[in-house]
Amino acid sequence: MAQAAALSPALREEASEIIGSYRGQPSGLIQVLSRLQEKLGYLPRDVLKEVADTLGVSLTEVYGVVTFYALFTLKPRGRHTINLCKGTACYVRGAAQLIERLKKDYGLKPGDTTDDGRYTLEVIRCLGACGLGPAIMIDKDVHARVKPEKLGEILSRYE
Ligand code: FES
Repeated sequence: MAQAAALSPALREEASEIIGSYRGQPSGLIQVLSRLQEKLGYLPRDVLKEVADTLGVSLTEVYGVVTFYALFTLKPRGRHTINLCKGTACYVRGAAQLIERLKKDYGLKPGDTTDDGRYTLEVIRCLGACGLGPAIMIDKDVHARVKPEKLGEILSRYE
């Protein structure tokens, strides 16, 4: 799994500027977190600490919000998200073999990001394409009846 790459000094400074514009405004918590998520791609711990200190809310409250809303992530995300369906229809058609192949060939476990920052793997319950299983969605593209030996070729289309 990829390490949380340190933010560049310039990006870190931009984060501080965003946070500073909400100084002493606890009601701006969700808004500042949204802006930081958009700017940084994830919410590093030291940034969350600065948010808590600057807005005047507890770190517990900040983490409560971050873990409640799915749009916030504590880990860096890959450039592409692989949503792999592990719902019943896909499972009986081989979703487990796809997970196995992603682990073997890319070192990916659900929730992980590849070391090169290219892919993040998420396992979901249904993509709404149950008759086409096993199905995966990469970014916004659904791929149907995916065979493990085809995964590499499909993923290679996503730089
Ligand atoms: S179970 Fe996989 S798309 Fe519905």
